[in-house]
Amino acid sequence: MTIHLPELCLVALVGASGSGKTTLGGRLFAPGEVLSSDAFRVLVANDENVLDANGDAFDALYFVARKRLARGLLTVIDATNVQADARKRIVDLAREFDVLPVAVVLDLPEEELLARHAARADRPFGPGVIRQQVQQLRRSLRRLQGEGFRHVTVLGGAQEVQAAQVVRERLY
Ligand code: CTP
Repeated sequence: MTIHLPELCLVALVGASGSGKTTLGGRLFAPGEVLSSDAFRVLVANDENVLDANGDAFDALYFVARKRLARGLLTVIDATNVQADARKRIVDLAREFDVLPVAVVLDLPEEELLARHAARADRPFGPGVIRQQVQQLRRSLRRLQGEGFRHVTVLGGAQEVQAAQVVRERLY
């Protein structure tokens, strides 16, 4: 699957924990383009799993996102974004800078996510969190266009995620 993106846009990666957002973002975009909630939790609290640092981490992430968009730089938000209020913040930010909000959804089967989660030592929460995120994602899928995402790509499985490519276009 080829994802066509305008040269300047705000990309929301959307997917449960373990769906491969950070891996995909690292492959398709330059390091500075991807703002990861994990990385910002490390910056503000030394640990990507300190969830009570979320407020500070997202404040810092959005501060940097604004600086980038003000410079006309494509920006990717690497966070689960399975909740509508998280996505609304992204759409609002895109509107603030008059850039297109774009969603790239990593829609993996629950069993695969649970297996990956069980194999990870770096995510100290239970499988119920993954199941909840999968449900939130399912509910989100049909809403994304209506929320304001101008372009939505759904990668339906690990193979599609692995094969995804990005083409940047001057006109969208
Ligand atoms: N992983 C995998 N196969 C892939 C991609 C990722 O097994 N094709 C595994 C990685 O080894 C990693 C885990 O899944 O341990 C999470 O990958 P990551 O790209 O960090 O996924 P995210 O969706 O970013 O996870 P999180 O939201 O928890 O940061």
